[in-house]
Amino acid sequence: MVEFNLPANSRIQAGKTFKAPAGATQVREFKIYRWNPDDGKNPQMDTYEIDVDACGPMVLDALIKIKNEVDPSLTFRRSCREGICGSCAMNIDGTNTLACLKPIDEVKGAVKINPLPHMAVVKDLVPDLSLAYAQLRSIEPWLQSDTPAPPDGERRQSVAERAKLDGMWECILCFCCSTSCPSYWWNGDRYLGPAVLLAAYRWISDSRDEATGKRLDALQDPFKLYRCHTIMNCTQACPKGLNPGKAIGELKLLMVEREV
Ligand code: SF4
Ligand code: SF4
Ligand code: FES
Repeated sequence: MVEFNLPANSRIQAGKTFKAPAGATQVREFKIYRWNPDDGKNPQMDTYEIDVDACGPMVLDALIKIKNEVDPSLTFRRSCREGICGSCAMNIDGTNTLACLKPIDEVKGAVKINPLPHMAVVKDLVPDLSLAYAQLRSIEPWLQSDTPAPPDGERRQSVAERAKLDGMWECILCFCCSTSCPSYWWNGDRYLGPAVLLAAYRWISDSRDEATGKRLDALQDPFKLYRCHTIMNCTQACPKGLNPGKAIGELKLLMVEREV
């Protein structure tokens, strides 16, 4: 797992502490980044003491408990609670991951929770993903083909052709990978980042898609693809066990092969 020692940011102040209720049997501390764009204050880390004996096992369970029972102003994204929607991505204990898949038990000491790193923050644990979504849109992540579909509408693939998409179709676009990538941190406005490049390679690898040339042309740019320096933080960070770093390597190889 990639771990980030988040710098002691002088602008992040110690915040409020919410004490555990009387009679709590197993108290854990959750230190959570708070920032409200409307109150004009600097970010702060609030501390919530939670009785984990009265809480589900995952970090997301604790966040939901805090929001429901302690502090309704705490803001975070979540939906599926089972690692499918990608919306609960955040930095927990120094690692980008999904709060719904992260057991509280795996964290030693206080559970420190920050938004995904190096993204603008909308509020509290909610990162601004506008740029990432615009980048995803830019690679046109849908099937493109001039060949009309068969009469039954189904464009068939062999078992081998379909298998080529394994390891890519499972991406849930949580952006844990892109926000763990140093190249994306520094050049995120021009470098597409591992999540979007994995999506690009997924369509280039699809036997039904006929836009490969156009897709590769669009990536032929000093920044969009080639800012990847094979550091592989992305692959270590992926909570779905995917390998975007390898996909980027395959894309670079395709670029070379079509030059020769
Ligand atoms: S392999 Fe490339 S995309 Fe992945 S973390 Fe490294 S530079 Fe970023
Ligand atoms: S490759 Fe993994 S970490 Fe990156 S967006 Fe997809 S699921 Fe998330
Ligand atoms: S809530 Fe959907 S992935 Fe965590």
